[in-house]
Amino acid sequence: MKFFIDTANLSQIKEANELGILDGVTTNPTLMAKEGIKGKEAILKHYKDICDIVQNPVSAEVFSTNLNDIIEEGKALAAIDKHIVVKVPMIKDGIKAIKWFTENGIKTNCTLVFSAGQAILAAKAGATYVSPFLGRIDDGNWDGVELISQIAHIYHIQNFKTNILAASIRNSLHIVRCAEAGADVCTCPLPSILGLLKHPLTDIGLTQFFS
Ligand code: G3P
Repeated sequence: MKFFIDTANLSQIKEANELGILDGVTTNPTLMAKEGIKGKEAILKHYKDICDIVQNPVSAEVFSTNLNDIIEEGKALAAIDKHIVVKVPMIKDGIKAIKWFTENGIKTNCTLVFSAGQAILAAKAGATYVSPFLGRIDDGNWDGVELISQIAHIYHIQNFKTNILAASIRNSLHIVRCAEAGADVCTCPLPSILGLLKHPLTDIGLTQFFS
């Protein structure tokens, strides 16, 4: 399973990258706004800065919701750097746009996915990645990891090539359960990645060995 970091914060991206286990970055408009990045030029420059750090796939989300605008925005994003993956919402025009991007050699991440049916549509359109938001499913008293398992099963028996990118990760256990469920990628906040390091017996063992 690949590890992406889910942030637009450059110092967190650098910290995860320096661990040597980072395979990419995902962002969304909320995460960009959190870093105070506003306006088209600033946003495009920020994506370039991220690509320069990681040299791995970087998901950049479109703001538009109609086909022509999604395509124009996606083309501009893809022109920033060869590592850009255009992130498109799971809506009717989004599916049409994903199909267009696929036919024109632009990688895509279909976002805001909450059901297996949506994941099937994303795969049929040729999405490079599909992003089920498991934390938000958990918020509604459903088991988000179950959806990851269901999509993994369907993609396997149907031989779909779309990568399952588990998103809306809220803790380290989510990462472990996504690995068990067959996610291809887990995109995580930095604290959830660093939480994987922790075990009290490791701390106790260290104290015993070195004191
Ligand atoms: O990867 C999607 C993510 O940024 C959404 O996370 O915690 O707002 O559901 P959250």
